[in-house]
Amino acid sequence: MPIPERLKPSFATTRVPVTDLVEEARKRLIVALDVPDAASAARLVSQLDSTCRWFKVGLELFVAAGPAVLEPLVKHGYSVFLDLKLNDIPNTVAGAVRSAAGLGVRMMTLHGSGGPAMLRAARAALDGVADPPELLAVTVLTSMDQAQLNAIGLERSPAKQVELLARMGLDAGIRGFVCSPQEVASLRTLTGAEGVLVIPGIRPAGAAIGDQKRIATPAEALRLGASYLVVGRPITQAANPAEAAEAVLKEMAEALKARL
Ligand code: C5P
Repeated sequence: MPIPERLKPSFATTRVPVTDLVEEARKRLIVALDVPDAASAARLVSQLDSTCRWFKVGLELFVAAGPAVLEPLVKHGYSVFLDLKLNDIPNTVAGAVRSAAGLGVRMMTLHGSGGPAMLRAARAALDGVADPPELLAVTVLTSMDQAQLNAIGLERSPAKQVELLARMGLDAGIRGFVCSPQEVASLRTLTGAEGVLVIPGIRPAGAAIGDQKRIATPAEALRLGASYLVVGRPITQAANPAEAAEAVLKEMAEALKARL
């Protein structure tokens, strides 16, 4: 499945032949910069400079370093995924989405559970924005199991809740979703080829699982229909992050061979 044209990373000024599977894989690998400060982020990015093109900035780094941490990434031509998982009244979320678009990020998250009015307001905030970021609705956090859902008054299973939120998101004009490897196949069926499915919880065979529960290898996640893979610790905490990233890319390229 080709990457949607508008999501092609901005660094790609020349068309990469589809036959170059590692290059295709590189466009789909997002490294999570889960570090506490801008200096640590810069160090990681420079270690991965010749290997990775997408970086995810989440709450930890953004709260510590502010929007300024995005500037060098965007300037350098990396594609930035701003993972702040917004959830507030529609007007506030719309404002935040507009601000983020102004920072040059290519993808950003908001909670699907914020409801249809919030999702519609977020979409509408991007009307007229040239080359807007892809809005990704987070379905059910991978840290939420049945007991956690019950505790907030939701009787549905996590899988059913993911499906409900994805249908609601699609109705509200959102085509991008973050979900665990367990739900990617059913969401791919629901969204069709147009869906932008971003999948964390990726662990190459033999990597430490850490706190992730619903995991898949890079190849499995791609075979199940993922558009993008988010990988943090297996790359960022490796003795040699670039080598670890290359190994992930190689595995992704193998899996893409069957898809492209
Ligand atoms: O280190 P690891 O590969 O587990 O990092 C995964 C990244 O994906 C982290 O930044 C984490 O916050 C993010 N994420 C996740 N599960 C979700 C949404 C985001 O693990 N449901």
